[in-house]
Amino acid sequence: MKVLKRAAVAAAIVFAVIQLIPVDRTNPPVTREVRWNAPETRALAQRACFDCHSNETVWPWTSRIAPASWLLARHVDEGRGELNFSEWDRPNAEADEIPESVTDGSMPTWDYMLMHAEARLTDAEQDALAAGLAETVRQDPPISDEGGGEDGDDD
Ligand code: HEC
Repeated sequence: MKVLKRAAVAAAIVFAVIQLIPVDRTNPPVTREVRWNAPETRALAQRACFDCHSNETVWPWTSRIAPASWLLARHVDEGRGELNFSEWDRPNAEADEIPESVTDGSMPTWDYMLMHAEARLTDAEQDALAAGLAETVRQDPPISDEGGGEDGDDD
């Protein structure tokens, strides 16, 4: 009994202490949003992709509680690193993978959809989003990794 009590106290202390570790929950400024082919595409992407692939993340209450906060912050950080619709002035090398990620069901991630009913798209919405994103990237391709943005160094 004593051992159990000690373990519970220790767990409570660990839980309290990890809350003190800072978690980056910032939304950096939108430097240059992609030019959407249509407002409908943006609306669908906002529902299904923006929390991890834009600087307009809506941070849920779980993002305030460690250790969930660490996982969420890492998802957002990794997601933004791969693809960021709010920073189209930076290379978004994975852009050509976008439509497929929607049609093959890998994006949005399944664990995200457990918590976010609005991100569960119908088949028709999924098709519309994949087509809209393909057209968006065709009309407004991302800048390339090297060479791009050389004339913008002085700002
Ligand atoms: C819960 C956060 C989250 C959501 C929501 C989300 N993604 Fe992702 N996405 C990630 C993460 C994390 C990665 C990088 C690691 C990986 O590939 O799983 C990623 C990677 C990608 C990539 C790079 C290629 C690949 O498949 O790894 C593309 C393209 C992409 N996402 C598109 C989308 C689109 C389009 C949506 C909306 C329909 C979306 N994502 C929704 C987190 C998310």
